Amino acid sequence: MKLKGKVAIVTGGNSGIGAAIVLGLAKEGANIVIDYRSHPETTDELEKKIASLGDQAIGVKADVSKIEDLQLLIDTTVKKFGHLDIMINNAGVETRSSILDTTEAQYEKVLEINLKSAFFGTQIAAEQMIKQGNGGRIINITSVHEDWPMPGNIAYCLSKGGMRMLTRTSAVELAKYNILVAGVAPGAVATPINVSTMQDPKLMQKLNNAIPIGRMAKPEEIASVVAFLASDEAKYVTATTIIVDGGMMQQSPGL
Ligand code: BGC
Repeated sequence: MKLKGKVAIVTGGNSGIGAAIVLGLAKEGANIVIDYRSHPETTDELEKKIASLGDQAIGVKADVSKIEDLQLLIDTTVKKFGHLDIMINNAGVETRSSILDTTEAQYEKVLEINLKSAFFGTQIAAEQMIKQGNGGRIINITSVHEDWPMPGNIAYCLSKGGMRMLTRTSAVELAKYNILVAGVAPGAVATPINVSTMQDPKLMQKLNNAIPIGRMAKPEEIASVVAFLASDEAKYVTATTIIVDGGMMQQSPGL
């Protein structure tokens, strides 16, 4: 077990990639704080699964786009488990809108949930880790779209591009405290964020053809990379992003 005795927070932890990360870290022995906003019953189920693995988990209802809620999340973690070792900034949404039709409300929602939460999640987690004095890990779940345009999803691309530079700059600033900051950039993953694509066979075919491996990722295939980055095996990895996309970004259109 790579993470025995460690304590991790996963934002947006009760669905999609977040839920897989919660289970992936618990399988490696970590105790987990599951941040969530809705569906408390799903959080309860995850807590039970984690207890059956021999670890402890608590759910905390918090809106990570608000600094007070992030502070509450971290304070609750320290109260319950005594320390925080791993912060996973995972919460994310998209609105599928373009430069010409994105409203101010859509812009603010996507940027606040995806980027502001990761920015202040990093800041508040780092403050706690510096106080503890033993370093720590901060892992930002970005996307291939931290670097790769997705026409019709521009606010999302902006937020992920911001997370890319948050990862790199905060990693350089925090290295002296032995706090490592890295990103994981999934491609297309079978999760609720992609449900409209998954329900459209033609779109699915197009998507699968665009991925050299020929299929979407399972959430566990992202979670295993996150568990590696959180472990001692990755203690020289910082200020960078691991792309987990089945080769999608490198696919040639064959022209
Ligand atoms: C987006 C999906 C998209 C995938 C691959 C993800 O980050 O959330 O909407 O299908 O990237 O382009």
